[in-house]
Amino acid sequence: MLIKTLNNGFIHPASSEITTERLYRERRNLIKLMASGAAGAAMASWAGREAMAQELARPGKNPALPGRKSPVAGAVTMDKLTDYKDASGYNNFYEFGTDKADPAKNAGSLVTSPWTVEVEGLVKKPAKYAIEDLLKLSAQEERIYRLRCVEGWSMVIPWVGYSVAELIKKVEPLGSAKFVEFITLADPKTMPFVGSRVLEWPYTEALRMDEAMHPLAMLAFGMYGETMPKQNGAPLRLVVPWKYGFKSGKSIVKIRFTDKEPKTSWNKSAPQEYGFYSNVNPTVDHPRWSQASERRIGEDGLFAKKRKTLMFNGYEAQVGQLYAGMDLKKFF
Ligand code: MTE
Repeated sequence: MLIKTLNNGFIHPASSEITTERLYRERRNLIKLMASGAAGAAMASWAGREAMAQELARPGKNPALPGRKSPVAGAVTMDKLTDYKDASGYNNFYEFGTDKADPAKNAGSLVTSPWTVEVEGLVKKPAKYAIEDLLKLSAQEERIYRLRCVEGWSMVIPWVGYSVAELIKKVEPLGSAKFVEFITLADPKTMPFVGSRVLEWPYTEALRMDEAMHPLAMLAFGMYGETMPKQNGAPLRLVVPWKYGFKSGKSIVKIRFTDKEPKTSWNKSAPQEYGFYSNVNPTVDHPRWSQASERRIGEDGLFAKKRKTLMFNGYEAQVGQLYAGMDLKKFF
């Protein structure tokens, strides 16, 4: 498949940097320069690159959701951004069909307002949040994460949201809470494939408590400076950049704290193929294919080389210690 990339190599700016007069002028100059064929020189200027990225990366499809630059270590990769068209047009969201194009086609029926998220289980302060309140619970940050799907493709997406840890701290888990389960919506009236046998519904995922507390684990309310498109998991989803994409449950309605390792949807459907941890690991193959390399969506021209998959998806420095001493072949 040939997918066109709009933002060729431009670094995406924090969407909190609203177009200033300076940026605006630089952008106009850049456009003029491009028209006169001097674009190469202009590209050498960082400000020019930012201005261009601003121009191209804001899709303008959904209401704006700006985020400040994230202070979290490792939260912003400099990899080239995936084009918004691909990030919102090539999805896994089985409630809306199993073809990659299905979610964008079918998720329009998802009703995201009103929306509540219940926090329950082993916590001192169980709560039911309206999505608007959850959105304001902590400062929105923009984080540019790689997302590596278990199927062998990857994307680079500027997410907007905050650390799951911010919510966890508010609800005060009990000492007995060892895992956090994320339960997503299963509404057969608005999700046409919820009745299908492909998975057990609702789609659920879970993290060990220390994984969920890691600052890189994120509750995302938006991407590309805007509120989340429905096909990407509106109004909120999980993003855990060092794990395979399927750990990132979409359209979450319940967060439950437990003392036992929860069963997750993919683990239930094929336990020999999808373990609880699902850390990106090029040395542990899926039983039916290698995980050593990946195809970056948007780079799949005829001669495009596959990329080597990195341990923990390149986040080893940040998260490696969570798994110190564990046999990752056994706990895959
Ligand atoms: N969440 C729900 N509710 N349903 C799903 O089918 N698919 C998962 C995950 N979250 C899925 C889900 C899988 S397999 C992947 S790879 C990612 O979402 C894809 O996220 P993206 O479409 O934003 O790239």
